[in-house]
Amino acid sequence: MRATRQALQMAARSYATKGGEKDSMPRKVAILGAAGGIGQPLSLLMKMSPHVSSLALYDIAGTPGVAADVSHMNTLAKVKGYAGEDQLHEALDGADVVIIPAGVPRKPGMTRDDLFKINASIVQGLIKACGEACPKALLNIISNPVNSTVPIAAETLKSMGVYDPKRLFGVTTLDLVRARTFYADAIGVDVNSVDVPVVGGHAGTTILPLFSQAKHSGQAKKQLSPEEIEALTKRTQDGGTEVVQAKAGKGSATLSMAYAGALFADSCLRGLSGAANTSEYTMVQSEITSCPFFASKVRLGPSGAEEILGLGELNEIEQKGLDIAIAELTASVEKGVKFAKDGT
Ligand code: NAD
Ligand code: LMR
Repeated sequence: MRATRQALQMAARSYATKGGEKDSMPRKVAILGAAGGIGQPLSLLMKMSPHVSSLALYDIAGTPGVAADVSHMNTLAKVKGYAGEDQLHEALDGADVVIIPAGVPRKPGMTRDDLFKINASIVQGLIKACGEACPKALLNIISNPVNSTVPIAAETLKSMGVYDPKRLFGVTTLDLVRARTFYADAIGVDVNSVDVPVVGGHAGTTILPLFSQAKHSGQAKKQLSPEEIEALTKRTQDGGTEVVQAKAGKGSATLSMAYAGALFADSCLRGLSGAANTSEYTMVQSEITSCPFFASKVRLGPSGAEEILGLGELNEIEQKGLDIAIAELTASVEKGVKFAKDGT
């Protein structure tokens, strides 16, 4: 049992710190939607993070149970559950990072945009509360459609006079997690030696993996043909749908999303503490393309997104993919902005 516990704690540290260092600052993380399919495993993973000293678990219901459950784990963070809107501000008070997986997931046959009607208002309401209770927190938006919920969040914060583009992030980490796994399997190397940039947005063709820039260490067992790269690109773009179909009506990715969300939140926390070389691919307000929100590599630091890095060199096929991604992403951004401005 002691060996298992040590192994779990080592695993927690290696996902959480990427270097083994422990944070000396007390940090509060709030998860909104913490009783859901993503929220529960994400609560577990954030409870395992050595960077978190206080963990606030908020949902419309069910969070006292989730909080009681994870609070018994032998890790640093003190956990508290908050249920119902009258406890939302208390949950957010003093938060350094707020992670938002609240909202409905897809069923087979739906697009992420089909979630807009319900999730747009949910995200808007929660962001308003963040703007009031913790305007300096780093906001990690997971709720779909991310391509629209991030601009909705930006406009909502702007209307309150508290928008800081460095502190608002759309979580696209799962696209990188998937691209890395699919690429490592295809070329036969250790997944931990692989790096694949994924830029653009988080829906269909807006998800643009740049396999021409993929890196790995170790000896690849195989060189990929252009057809194989095309298939990997399509699989990465359809990764969410692959899970939705496999779950056959019981929701979308939850466990891999919790893993990806914890990786991203941990990088935010490391950045806040000034850890060197902290960067992630994420959707932020951006000027690197004509689209006002775009996911690319971002250097994270004490004030959030400190530098938005460029796209590097794209091959001809990726350049065409970029043009398609920008057109679709721009339309989704405009839809979000319109909703935030006039409610339609
Ligand atoms: P779920 O239905 O299992 O859980 C959602 C939770 O949100 C529920 O517990 C619900 O009570 C809660 N909720 C609803 N309205 C709320 C409100 N106003 N305040 C607080 N909590 C509220 O869904 P899930 O599988 O966890 O997915 C959540 C969202 O994450 C979906 O929109 C899904 O599409 C999205 N998602 C995004 C990514 C990504 O890569 N960004 C990946 C997977 C899923
Ligand atoms: C994902 O990529 O898994 C999420 O965006 C959920 C979905 O609906 O596909």
